[in-house]
Amino acid sequence: MPSLPEAVTVRAAAKVNLELLVGPRDASGYHALATVFQAVSLYDDVTVRRARRCSLTVAGRDAEHVPTDESNLAWRAVIAVGEGHPEAGPVAISIAKDIPVAGGMAGGSADGAAALVAADALWGVGLSRTELHRLAAGLGADVPFSVLGGTAIGTGRGDELAPAMARGSYHWVFAFSDEGLSTPRVFAELDRLRAERGEDVSAPAQQQPEPEVSTAMMTALLSGDAEAVGQAMHNDLQEAALSLQPRLVDTLAIGQECGALGGIVSGSGPTCAFLAASHEHALDLAVALTASGVASDVRRAQGPVPGARLIHPGKEQ
Ligand code: C5P
Repeated sequence: MPSLPEAVTVRAAAKVNLELLVGPRDASGYHALATVFQAVSLYDDVTVRRARRCSLTVAGRDAEHVPTDESNLAWRAVIAVGEGHPEAGPVAISIAKDIPVAGGMAGGSADGAAALVAADALWGVGLSRTELHRLAAGLGADVPFSVLGGTAIGTGRGDELAPAMARGSYHWVFAFSDEGLSTPRVFAELDRLRAERGEDVSAPAQQQPEPEVSTAMMTALLSGDAEAVGQAMHNDLQEAALSLQPRLVDTLAIGQECGALGGIVSGSGPTCAFLAASHEHALDLAVALTASGVASDVRRAQGPVPGARLIHPGKEQ
């Protein structure tokens, strides 16, 4: 049997929700979702190394906003994999971040997913796909998708996944905000806005139809028609994110003026995601968004890309 590595590095991607439909809140406080996820080429790298005692360090984008204790999803992931496994011991976790923190792009979930896969490889646990999925869903609703990657439909809390029939590669431009939004706060704001309109926000699930992703989006993805994907892009959380950060209205307007095929708030925000027609169009969009000064940073990315994957299994790190 080959010896186990001293350290393992796993790369996990950010996500954008091409469509995100939010149903009523259930008794546990979660909302029924129907969503289409796509993994995009912005990455966090998580290295897990054998050590004398447990530690966690973070470098890169927004590093100062990331917890370095047991509340970090990467730390919880390592503990979850180690439970009941004799090879497990203390590890030093280091996270190199490029995905914005509290940005609606599943940055924390990517770290959790990467740490699950890394700890599994470090200790030679050999988790089955089902086990990995169970541990991922236990960490958070978006973590299973961060493990899987690609383009996928999420239902339930967003953690019940089916790969989507999708063709083509998509050019994205992301406008980051210098102030994050907390996911629970955005869901709560949506409930507040819905209640204000007289909608029943916590009706028993059986009394309300489950949200379903649109035929328009599925057909557009099946044919790889970026223009149709852009038109079908929709996010039910957007009104709540805009209510909490009204200046995002200007960011979305600039993307629209510059001919983005679609522009929405990503997940619970505040990152705004714009779909471009081509590589050149994405460059133009990025320049216009940067020049307008509406965003703290602007980045281009491609999607879909794979889920959490090993990039360094060696001892050299
Ligand atoms: O699962 P995760 O910890 O990522 O979710 C963060 C929060 O987002 C939850 O505590 C809940 O308030 C909200 N949420 C929700 N419905 C979902 C997913 C998340 O209300 N389907």
